[in-house]
Amino acid sequence: MSKADVVLGCFYGDEGKGKVIDYLAADADIAVRATGGDNAGHTIKTNGVKYAMHLIPSGILSGHTVGVIGNGVVLNPEVLLKEIDNLVSHGYEIKNHLKISEKAHIILPYHSMLDLALEKARKNLKIGTTGKGIGPAYCDKYERSGLRAEDLYSDDFREKLTALVEHKKALVEFYDPENEDAKKLLDPEKIYEQYTAYAEKLKPYVCDTVTYLHKAMEENKKIVVEGAQATLLDIDFGSYPYVTSSNPTIGGIITGTGMSSADMGNVYGVIKAYSSRVGAGPFVTELLDETGDRIRELGHEYGTTTGRPRRCGWLDLVTLKYAKRVNGLTALAVNHLDTIGQFDRIKVCVAYDCDGKVTEDFSTNLKFLNSAKPVYREFDGNFGEISDCKTFEELPENAKAYIRFIEEYIGIPVKFIGTGAEREAMIVR
Ligand code: GDP
Ligand code: IMO
Ligand code: MG
Repeated sequence: MSKADVVLGCFYGDEGKGKVIDYLAADADIAVRATGGDNAGHTIKTNGVKYAMHLIPSGILSGHTVGVIGNGVVLNPEVLLKEIDNLVSHGYEIKNHLKISEKAHIILPYHSMLDLALEKARKNLKIGTTGKGIGPAYCDKYERSGLRAEDLYSDDFREKLTALVEHKKALVEFYDPENEDAKKLLDPEKIYEQYTAYAEKLKPYVCDTVTYLHKAMEENKKIVVEGAQATLLDIDFGSYPYVTSSNPTIGGIITGTGMSSADMGNVYGVIKAYSSRVGAGPFVTELLDETGDRIRELGHEYGTTTGRPRRCGWLDLVTLKYAKRVNGLTALAVNHLDTIGQFDRIKVCVAYDCDGKVTEDFSTNLKFLNSAKPVYREFDGNFGEISDCKTFEELPENAKAYIRFIEEYIGIPVKFIGTGAEREAMIVR
C-alpha cells in the first residue's frame, strides 16, 4: 500500500505550491485536488510556457500524471472546460488523464453573483474574495441545497435547478437590487441548456474517485495531493472571517478526497522566504513601505487568479510554527530564496509583542493579531545569483544560514528550496 504525499500552503496562499507539485509529479502517478475551486491559481513555468492552473491539478503537466478533482472541490464547469482546452492546445492528452469526483459540488452562475453581492453589502468590512462564487457554493453544500457533479445526469436535474435558480435570483435581488445582470442571466431554461451541454462534455471524467484512489494505493501507485489556499485562509484555523470557505489544512485533504489519516505520507508545508497576502485581514509582518513595494516588484507578487497586487512583508516564523502544529508538517519547501537574497539585510519574525507580552504562540484571535508587533531577527542577505545552484552546499553562506535558522526554529527539515520561477530552479535535499 502506498501513502499520499501532501503539499500545503502555510500562510495566506500563493506560496508556490504549484511549483512543488510540479516537481513531485515527475514520478507521481496521480495528483489530487481536495479543496477550494478556481479561487486557486497555481503557476508553473516550464520550457518558456507559463501555466496558471485553477482547477486541474498542476501535476498533470508532467504528461503522465492523472489529475483527480476530489469531492471537496467546488467546480465551475466553464472554467474547467477552458482549462482543458488550453492544455489540449499545448499538446496535452486529457481524456485519459483527468477524473472528477461525482460528489464535487458544482458552481452555478448565481454563486458568483451572490459572492459579489455579499461583498458589496459588507461595505467597509469586505473580505476581498476572488468573486468566483466559492463561499456561496460551500454555503449551499452545507445547507444541503447544492448540486453535485452526479446531479447533472439525474432525471430531476431540470426540476431541481429551476427551483434553485428562482430562489437564488430573489436572493441576489435582495442583496443587490441594482444588479440588472441577475434579472437577465438567471434564467432557469438558459442555465439548464448551458449546464447540460457542460455535463455532456464532462461525462467521460466523472466517476467514483474515492474507490479509484484507494485502488491506486493498493496497487502502490504514487499519489501527491495539491493543497489549494493555505492554513491562515482555513475556515476553522485561519483569520476568520478573512478566510476562504473550506479547510485547506490537513483535515480538508482527508474529507476532500476520501483517503484516511492513515493514508497520509509526507506532509510538505510550502512557504516563501517572505510573506504575502491578497485580500483583507490581519498580516503581522506586512510592510507598508518601500521595502514591501520592493518585495512585490522583485517577486512579481500579483495575483494569478485576480491580478490584484499582493500585500508583502517579512517571513513570519510564529505563523509557520502554528501551520506546522495544525497540519503535522513533516518537511518544508522554501520558495523565492532568490528574491529575498536581493536584499542587503533580511528580517525574520521570531515572536510577537502584544502590549509588552512577548510570545511565540500564534492565535487567530483578531484582537491579538491586530495588536501584535513583530519581534525581528536580522540576517545578512546579498546571496548573488543562486538560480544555478543545484545543491544546498553550492549556496552562499548567508543563504545557508537563513535556511538553517528556519529549520532550527521550526524543528523540521527544509527539503525543497526554490531559487527561481522555472521548473528547474529548485534544490532538493
Ligand atoms: P501557489 O498558488 O501556491 O501555487 O503560488 P502562485 O503560483 O500563486 O504564486 C507563486 C509565484 O511565485 C508564481 O508566480 C511562481 O512562478 C513564483 N515562484 C515560485 N517559486 C519561486 C521561486 O523560488 N523563485 C521565484 N523567483 N519565483 C517563484
Ligand atoms: P492559492 O491556491 C491567495 C483569498 C482571497 C480572499 C479570501 C476569500 O493560489 O494559494 P474566496 O474567493 O476564497 O472566498 O476569497 O481568500 N484566497 C486566496 N489568496 N491564494 C489563493 O489560492 C486564494 N484563494 C482564496 O483573496 O482574501
Ligand atoms: Mg496562487
